[in-house]
Amino acid sequence: MSNGIRIAPSVLSADLTRLAEQVEQVLAAGADWLHVDVMDGRFVPNLTYGAAMVEALRRLTDKPLDVHLMVVEPERYIEPFAAAGASVFTFHPEATPHVQRHLAAVKSRGMLAGLALNPGSPLALAEEVIADVDLLLVMTVNPGFGGQSYLPASNDKIRRARELLTAHGSRAFLEVDGGITAHTIAAAHAAGADTFVAGNAVFASRDPAREVQELRRRCMVTV
Ligand code: DX5
Ligand code: ZN
Repeated sequence: MSNGIRIAPSVLSADLTRLAEQVEQVLAAGADWLHVDVMDGRFVPNLTYGAAMVEALRRLTDKPLDVHLMVVEPERYIEPFAAAGASVFTFHPEATPHVQRHLAAVKSRGMLAGLALNPGSPLALAEEVIADVDLLLVMTVNPGFGGQSYLPASNDKIRRARELLTAHGSRAFLEVDGGITAHTIAAAHAAGADTFVAGNAVFASRDPAREVQELRRRCMVTV
């Protein structure tokens, strides 16, 4: 059923007054992971929520909670997010100097360690630590807000990211995030991505459940 891909709706675009209902809807429709965007108003201009959101979602589901930290000094939050029940802890190497140490700390707390790269950041930022990375996130918009347009240059970067993982024998997930819709997902999948975050496409749709199924279907037609 999963055809080797994961669809991860981002609750950033959910209606927070109906969060439980909307989460249940997308999970029933086959969403694999839930993506949680944590923003601190410093690394990115926007401000969202912290570990309390993960704690609340954890009470709703056993599915993987894919936490994306767009914050400076993400290492300060490894412990609270682990305690809250996060499954994947993804941070930006642009936001902290000691990346390898923090990847190891994330794993030692039982979470998968993810590294996220802004559109302007080279893949070389991930290369030296690739053996420590469980998930490589190629940002396909500049982070900070939902509902932005997919940057077309992303397809080539995803392709090179896939080559990098293959060259190093890495089995890390290759995730994309930003502007993923029924129109952009097939190209990202064809370029080598296997895990797809979608905020607006899912939650701004009149039928979020149907949209999750549609995103998966669009990947299948490119296989
Ligand atoms: C962007 C966030 C994304 C965002 C994606 O800063 O990291 O996860 O929720 O939203 P859409 O799919 O609407 O671009
Ligand atoms: Zn995100």
